[in-house]
This record gives sequence, structure tokens and C-alpha cells, in this order.
Amino acid sequence: MNITDIKKAFPIFTHHPDLIYLDSAATALKPAVVIASEQAYYEQCSTNIARGIYPLAEQTTTAFEESRATVARFIGARTPEEVIFTAGTTASLNLTADLLASRITKEDNIVTTALEHHSNFLPWKELAKRNKAELRIVPVTETGTLHLEALKKLVDNHTKIVAFSATSNVLGTINPVSEIIRIIRSLNKETVIIVDAAQAVGHIPVDVVAWDADFIAFSGHKLFGPTGVGVLFGKQTLLNQLSPVAFGGGMVLDACALETLYKDAPARFEAGTPNIAGIIGLGAAITFIESIGVAEIHAHETKLARYACQALQKAFGDDIRILAAKNPEDQSSIVSFTLTGAHPHDTAQLLGEHNICVRAGLQCAAPLHEALNLSATTRLSFSIYNTEHDIDLLITRLKEIRTIL
Ligand SMILES: Cc1ncc(COP(=O)(O)O)c(C=O)c1O
Repeated sequence: MNITDIKKAFPIFTHHPDLIYLDSAATALKPAVVIASEQAYYEQCSTNIARGIYPLAEQTTTAFEESRATVARFIGARTPEEVIFTAGTTASLNLTADLLASRITKEDNIVTTALEHHSNFLPWKELAKRNKAELRIVPVTETGTLHLEALKKLVDNHTKIVAFSATSNVLGTINPVSEIIRIIRSLNKETVIIVDAAQAVGHIPVDVVAWDADFIAFSGHKLFGPTGVGVLFGKQTLLNQLSPVAFGGGMVLDACALETLYKDAPARFEAGTPNIAGIIGLGAAITFIESIGVAEIHAHETKLARYACQALQKAFGDDIRILAAKNPEDQSSIVSFTLTGAHPHDTAQLLGEHNICVRAGLQCAAPLHEALNLSATTRLSFSIYNTEHDIDLLITRLKEIRTIL
């Protein structure tokens, strides 16, 4: 992978040549091809989808549905109809909770984990609270690995939902998704399984058929796509059994006064005008990723994550607590740490003064911080435009910052 050429694909480096962006887990930078595809839509089509029958409208519908097909192919869905466009991972997970709400009674339990981002924790906590069901939380081990023995004890005949993430947004641990799903299905065949793949899609090869999850959620902006667009994959058979929860244009076949006939998925879950430019941009982002290759991206990112772990350990010894995957082969593009004598917020702010962007705080993962007895962490997340030199510069600045603090 030629990083100099890759950087040229991202216009932000023209505006900020010294930028060291280590916050791609928050949102990835945008390549020119993605920005251009959105602009081309606004300049050259600018029409709505699935409504007009004049050529410009049909052109937009075609481009929009091509994006759906691109997403479906990218994640290995059986058909584009399994791809619902949303506003992002958070919207996808909340939509799933709303779609399943009527199935949950006070006899039931919902299982999630201590590893989750708030977006895959709070919707289930709220759903359990509203329906008086029990919320069960799979704990993590002291190294932040999901406790699979505990999972086996928590899933039973009354488990209606299990929701867990493919990759931790704090530790970068890649969970054994297929194995976890096999365990859940062996304990209860009816349980609906939801995977938060926000930090996985675009970083590791994702094959929804191999995973066998019922729902998978992810955001466009974390894979070089525009903000405000995301995906909810759902198994087609399941989707068409569920009633819509948002109502309006584009999702009905007939809406006479007495009876409403809803379209099949995905249209029945996409009421109203969607983020057309964003969805077209997401298609361009996936084409961009495919031009590099997910396996190459994964190899580059994990190489950087491992290098960061070793270099930080070497530089700070016992003063640093590195939070990463226990086994190097489970490591994704994310590494967090705490450094004695340097609060994460001060660290992030002072690094920012040197154009080094990192994330600090609870990282929307309070349950995990609580489980690991941490009040805040600093997170580094790597992407295709980062190099080992970025990490060396970060460490130089961290050493200086410690002398100031
Ligand atoms: C694992 C995980 N899930 C969910 C989300 C929420 O994504 P979004 O803010 O795009 O909805 C994030 C964002 O950082 C995340 O890392």
C-alpha cells in the first residue's frame, strides 16, 4: 500500500498537510471520489427517488439502488432487499429495537454485553425497561474479552434478543462473531441476534451469511462515506414478518382509508425521502475500499495497532496501561491507553495543538470503563492514511506533554 498516493486521495491533507489523524473510529476522513459523487448527484440529477417517471428521476433511482446493490455485495447479503438505509448505526439499532418491541414481554430477557458502545446498549436497556423485561449483561474478563462461559449461562428459553458488537470501539478486539452466534443458536433457536458492526465493516471482511446474524448495523461515515447515512442489514424472511414503525411516503402499496398495504422490505422501513446524496456517496466509498481491498486495509491497520502497542510500552514502561486485544490476531485498528500523570482530556487537547487528533474520555462506552475500573482513556484509531511515523511523532509529543503536566 502506497500511503503517499493514498493520502493524495483525501483532500483534507491538502488543507492540513501536517494533520495526524488518529481518530478514524469516530469518523473516517473522506476521499475525493466520495465528495465528488455527492456533488455530482446535486449538480447533475438532484431529483427524488422511486417517485418521478421522467428520465432524471429514474437516473437517481438507478444510482440509489446501485448503492444498495453495492452494499449488499460488499457484506455478502443474499439480495439487496436485505439492505435498509438509515441515518447510521445508532439509527439502525434503535430501529431494530422498535421493530422488535411488540415481541418482548415481562417474561422475556434481552442480552447485551459490557463491551458495547452506548448505541448498542441504551436501546436494549430502554426496551427492557419499557416492556418490563430483564436486561442481562455479558461481562468482560479483566483483559476486556467477552466472557463466553457467562454468555452460555445468560441465554435461555426466554431470551428474545442478543445484541453484541463485532469489534470493540475501545479495545479494537475483534469478537468471534460466528462462534458467538453458534453458541446463542445452540441455546435458543428463536433468539433474534443483532451485531453492531460499526467498527468492523470496511476493516475486516464481513460476510453476513457466514455470520448468520439476523440484523447487522453500521455507519457510512466510518468507512470513508458521508455522515448521516447507515445500514441495517436484516434477513429477508424476518424483515417481511415485521411491521413498520415509521409511516409515510414510499413505503405503501395502497393507503385507502380502511386498510394500508405496506411494501415489502426494504421499502416498508424507509418512509419518506432518504439521504439520497449520502447513500450514493456510500456506494462510492465502498467502491473506493474495494479498489484497495479490505484484507490489505486490515493488514495495514493491525500492523499499526501492534506497532503502537509495542512502541508505547517501550516508551512508557510501567507508566502506561495499554488497552487492546488480548491476542494480537484479534486486534483491529483501535488501541486505547491510560498514562500516569496525564489525564486523557489534557492529553488529547495538548496533542490537538500539534495537529494530532485522538479521542479521549469514556468513548461512549461507560459500562466497559466501569468494568475495567477506568474513569477515562485515550484512544488511537488507525486507517489507511496513517504510518508508523505518525505513531513515533505521537510518542514524542506524549513525552513532552508529560513533562508539562
Ligand atoms: C461500536 C460502535 N457502535 C455504534 C456507534 C455509533 O455510530 P453512529 O454514531 O455512526 O451512529 C459507534 C460510533 O463510534 C461505534 O463505535
